[in-house]
Amino acid sequence: MCGIVGYIGKKKASPILIDGLLKLEYRGYDSSGISTVENGYLSNMKDKGRVKNLYDLDGINDLNGTIGIAHTRWATHGKPCKENSHPHMDNEKCFSVVHNGIIENYQDLRDFLIGKGYKFLSETDTETIPNLIHYYYNKDENSNEGRFLRAVNSACKDVKGSYAIEVICKDYPNKMIIARKDSPLVVGVNQDEYYVASDIPAILSYTKNFYLLDDGDIVELQKNSISFYNMNLEKIQKDLKNIEWDATSSEKAGYPDYMLKEIYEQPRSIRETIGTRLKQGEKVNFSDINISKDYLKNIDKIYLVACGTAMHAGLSAQPLFEKLCKIPVTVDIASEFRYREPLIDDKTLCIFISQSGETADTIAALKLVKLNGAKTIAISNVINSSITREADFTIYTHAGPEIAVASTKAYTSQVTLLALLGIHFAEVLESSDASEINNIKNELLLLPEKIQDILKDVTQIKEFAKKVYTEHDIFFIGRGTDYTTAKEASLKLKEISYIHSDAYAAGELKHGPIALIENGVTVVGIVTDAKLACKTISNLQEVITRGAKTFIITNQDLEKGNYDKVIRIPNTHPMISPILSVIPLQLFAYYISKEKGLDVDKPRNLAKSVTVE
Ligand code: F6R
Repeated sequence: MCGIVGYIGKKKASPILIDGLLKLEYRGYDSSGISTVENGYLSNMKDKGRVKNLYDLDGINDLNGTIGIAHTRWATHGKPCKENSHPHMDNEKCFSVVHNGIIENYQDLRDFLIGKGYKFLSETDTETIPNLIHYYYNKDENSNEGRFLRAVNSACKDVKGSYAIEVICKDYPNKMIIARKDSPLVVGVNQDEYYVASDIPAILSYTKNFYLLDDGDIVELQKNSISFYNMNLEKIQKDLKNIEWDATSSEKAGYPDYMLKEIYEQPRSIRETIGTRLKQGEKVNFSDINISKDYLKNIDKIYLVACGTAMHAGLSAQPLFEKLCKIPVTVDIASEFRYREPLIDDKTLCIFISQSGETADTIAALKLVKLNGAKTIAISNVINSSITREADFTIYTHAGPEIAVASTKAYTSQVTLLALLGIHFAEVLESSDASEINNIKNELLLLPEKIQDILKDVTQIKEFAKKVYTEHDIFFIGRGTDYTTAKEASLKLKEISYIHSDAYAAGELKHGPIALIENGVTVVGIVTDAKLACKTISNLQEVITRGAKTFIITNQDLEKGNYDKVIRIPNTHPMISPILSVIPLQLFAYYISKEKGLDVDKPRNLAKSVTVE
């Protein structure tokens, strides 16, 4: 989704801004632009298309201003085009603004401003902001230093919805005002210079010291000072945080794409997720969240709520929670959950899963749950993301920055962390047989090595991808946790290859979907649970009889069957097998996308963090 970068200091701003925008490309966008202040004049250069198009704009190299703001836009209000791109300016070109988020009352604000004589040049909600700031600025009779800040503050007070904004003003060539509500914004600090961004990776190569803004914060930046205010313009204090992310971990490190790099990082990311929570022979450690035995004994249900791949992580963990903890677990899509009046009270525990921690529906679902008295746990990969500020407790996946739009390592880390949490609850509750728990714990510790094994030789996966990349429909089937892998694999494939695909519980085939199977159709079968294997094998035979080509991911001895390709993966406990079985299928989607010559990391229409509903 939209990305923000800003700079104020002694250096020329434009190269820093463009560099930051390039680092935010992974979020998904359709246009970009930058604005700087120089000699009492605001430049504004923008266009639809890729950030690199900015280099072609006449005069971009002549922007010498040392203060600037920049933006990548993912269209919500109005199509992708130059006029709708950010930055937006007021009618008198006094203020330049970039904005992430959605202004829900923009139509009312627009009508109000039109009534005051303002004209609108774009279809966006954002264009109301510079004009509203201008309106308050002109109304302010006290033309002292604080006038710019007061105007931005008044405009923010009028806005309903979410925003992270950067504002520069031609009358204040040494100042930038930024503000946030329900949309992330950070300030990176170096000597006599400040970097602003919606996402830390955009500016991580310049500094590791950050102020992380909270909702309602307004910040006044000057070249050598920073002041924080609340919505009443009272000064507040903020702590500078050191973020230990390695800048190179958000670069490609020799891989052709981020997605491939992130797939190959999984042995390491799983190790990081397990961290010190699990040690041989010891109980799982979640001393960072205060969930007592009394509380767990008293709850009567758990909801796992998320969107997309993160929701699939919830589905993968559901059987483990139910079997080990003996508590009913429902997995919900956040955008459905929040509108279906779910039954929630103080006996409900709700766990929200979000890689980015910024997904609008997941955050809204969490807020709703809190109003109804349930306890909330956030599982996120991004330190201090919005969801972590709302939840009662947060646990981090520690998978490292995930840049490719299609989630891979974050998913396997989410499933791992959920498994650890389920085991922890079972150990606290003493609700399950210790030998089964120990078996899963031992298998969790072996995952990094087993993933390494899968990644050693991927030629067979690549070959099969070459064979089927021109197809129009691909089906995935499995039972139990293999069905959840089928769902995740199908999502991965459609996202980055644009091939239609569907996942079915293998036992459901005969209840309808088998009508779609005809000569030459590809069916991917996942068979990793010995107890269910013979059932899924029968279903695979049914599709083979009807002419399907089959691609099998298994830890069973199926090599002698009449399948087109069998990918053998290491054995593990069925409850955590999605962590292994998904990996060949992430690669399958990846190689199909590459064969088709598509942009693997930035698939069309998709964004890395979905900050709109
Ligand atoms: C798919 C994918 C999306 C996200 C979903 C939720 O590869 O990445 O389906 O999983 O948009 O995002 P987060 O986890 O950031 O809440």
